[in-house]
Amino acid sequence: MCGIVGINGAPDVCFDLLAGLKRLEYRGYDSAGVATLFNKEFHRQRAEGKLINLERIVKEHPLPGIIGIGHTRWATHGGPTTSNAHPHQGQYVALVHNGIIENHRELRAGFDQTLFQSETDSEVVVHLLDAYIKKGYDHAAAIQATLPQLKGSYALAVLFKNAPDTLVGICRGSPLVIGHGKEGRLFLASDIFAFADYCESVTYLEEGDWTELKNGTVTIYSHGSTHPVTRPSLPISADIASQATKGLYRHFMLKEIMEQPEVLQNTLEKYAHSEAWLTKMPTNPWKKASGLSIVACGTSFYAGCVAKYWFEEIARLPVAVDIASEYRYRHPALPADSCALFISQSGETADTLAAARFTKQKKIYCASLVNVAESSLAREVDQVFQTYAGFEIGVASTKTFTTQLIVLAALTAEVALLRGEISAEERATLQKDLLMLPRLVEETLKIQGSLQRLAPQFERVKAALYLGRGALYPVALEGALKLKEISYIHAEGYAAGELKHGPIALIDDKIPVVVLAPHDVLFEKILSNVQEVLARKGQVILFTDNDGARALNTLAEGMQVCILPKVCSFLAPIVYTVPMQLLAYHVAAFKGTDIDQPRNLAKSVTVE
Ligand code: M6R
Repeated sequence: MCGIVGINGAPDVCFDLLAGLKRLEYRGYDSAGVATLFNKEFHRQRAEGKLINLERIVKEHPLPGIIGIGHTRWATHGGPTTSNAHPHQGQYVALVHNGIIENHRELRAGFDQTLFQSETDSEVVVHLLDAYIKKGYDHAAAIQATLPQLKGSYALAVLFKNAPDTLVGICRGSPLVIGHGKEGRLFLASDIFAFADYCESVTYLEEGDWTELKNGTVTIYSHGSTHPVTRPSLPISADIASQATKGLYRHFMLKEIMEQPEVLQNTLEKYAHSEAWLTKMPTNPWKKASGLSIVACGTSFYAGCVAKYWFEEIARLPVAVDIASEYRYRHPALPADSCALFISQSGETADTLAAARFTKQKKIYCASLVNVAESSLAREVDQVFQTYAGFEIGVASTKTFTTQLIVLAALTAEVALLRGEISAEERATLQKDLLMLPRLVEETLKIQGSLQRLAPQFERVKAALYLGRGALYPVALEGALKLKEISYIHAEGYAAGELKHGPIALIDDKIPVVVLAPHDVLFEKILSNVQEVLARKGQVILFTDNDGARALNTLAEGMQVCILPKVCSFLAPIVYTVPMQLLAYHVAAFKGTDIDQPRNLAKSVTVE
C-alpha cells in the first residue's frame, strides 16, 4: 500500500505535502516524492528510503507553487530506488498512484521504450495521458480515453500542464478522499488522516469516480463521464485529528497497546450493552447457516482462528478459517446455505477483498468485520461489523486485534442464542463476562514493567517458540508474529500438544519458550508439554493466573512465571494477547528496531 496526497491552493504547498505524507508514511516507507506545477513547469524531488530523506532535500530546495502532489511508497513493481519513486512525469502530465495497473506490460509495449524512466506499473498511465494531450485532447478527454484501457486498481492524483489550476483525482479499487480546508484549500489523499487537522469536512469518492479540484471548488464525475455527480461532505471529528500524535509515548505501537481498555469499551458499547446487543443483526442466514467460512490475512486471520474455537464450541456452527491468499485458489466447497465472514482492519487488503468478491459471485451471504467503516470491504458485503479501535498507525496490529476478538465473541454469543444453543440466561452471563474485559485488560497492562525487565534476555536470541492450547493456540501464533515483525527474531507459534511431533527438536538451553497457560481444563495438559521442554533445558516463560501459579508447585523453580488476572476461559484469548504485544514491544525497543515502521512492511497490503 502506498500513500498519496494532492493539494491545491496552499502557499508553500511542498511543505504541506510533506506534512500530509508524514501522516501517511505508515502506509509505505520505501521511498517518497513530491511535485508541484508552477509557471507551466513541473518541479519534483524524490528520495529513496524514509520520508526524512525527502524532507532534508525539500528543506534545502523547496518547490515553488500552490498546487502539488506527493507519494510515499511500498515497493511492488520495481525496487525501492529514486527512479521508481513517485511522482512520475512526462511531457504534460505528472502523477502519483496507489494500486496496481495489472496490464501495464501490455500497455507499455505500445510505447517507445526510451520514454520510460522507471520499472513501475504506474508510469504507463503518465504516457497514456501524455499521448492524448499531444494529440490535442484536453485533460478531461485524455482521462476519458485512458481509463477504459487500465486494468487493476488505482487511486491517482494528477497534474496536467494544460490545466494548470486543476488537481485531478481518480479512483477505482483503491480509496481516495477529498478534504475541504480553510481559505479554499483542497486536499486529496489516500485516507482522511493526511489532512484531518487542516480540514473541516471530507468527501469519500466512490468506486469509479474522478474529480477536479480547482479554485476552491470540487467537481466529481462518475465512471469517466463528464456529468457531475453529488457526493456528501461529512464533518471531521476532533477526535480523528488527536489520534495523529503519539502523545507521551515513544511509539504509536505502545500508545495503541495502552489504549486497549478504552477502545474495547468503545467497541463493547456498540455491541454488548443490554439494549445494543447486536440489534441490527438479521436472523438470517446466521440462524440456519450450515457453516461459516472465515477469511483473512495476518493478525486478522489469527482473530478468525480464535473465533473458530468459539463458534464451534458455543454456537455449534462449523467454521472453516482460510488465509485469504490461499482461499480462492483452493476452490473451496461453499454450501449455498453457508455464510462467510471477512476480517480486515483496513478493509483494503487485496487478498481479503478478492476473496470476498469471489464469494459474493458464488451467491454466498457475506459479512465483514472491519475497523475502517468506509473501506471497500465494508461497502461490498451484505452485512458489516465494525471495530471501534480508532486509527491504528503502528504497522503491527494490536488494538485492532483485541477489538476484533471482542466483536467476534459478542457475535458468537448472539449466534449461539439464535441457533438455540444457549439460553438467554447463558447469553447474559457471557455478556457480563464481556463487559468486564476493559477492566481486566487494564489490570493486565500493569505487567508491563516485568516484561520490560525480561526483554534483555532476548538480546542474542535467534529464535523463540510460543505455545498455547485451545483458543490460546492462535494467540501463540499472534504472539510469535508480533515478535518477528518488530524485533526480527524468528519465532513460531505451536499448539503445545504438537511440540513432540517435531518442533521439540529445536529446544536447547538458548531458546525462549513462551507458554500461555491459564488455569483452565487444558492446564494439566499444557503442563506436561512444558515438562517436555524443561527436560531439554528450554527457557520457559509461562503466563498464567494465580491458580495456575499455585498449581505449578516446585515446577515453577525451573521457569519464569508471569501472573495475569483470572479470566473465564471464553475470554482468556483477549487478556493473554496483551502481554504478547508488550513482550514483543519491549524486546524490539531494547534492540532498537524501527517499531512503528518495521523493515519491508506496510500497514495494509493492497496488492495480491
Ligand atoms: O488490514 P488487514 O487486517 O486486512 O491486514 C492484514 C495483515 O496484513 C495484518 O494483520 C498484518 O499481519 C499485521 N499488521 C501484523 O501485525
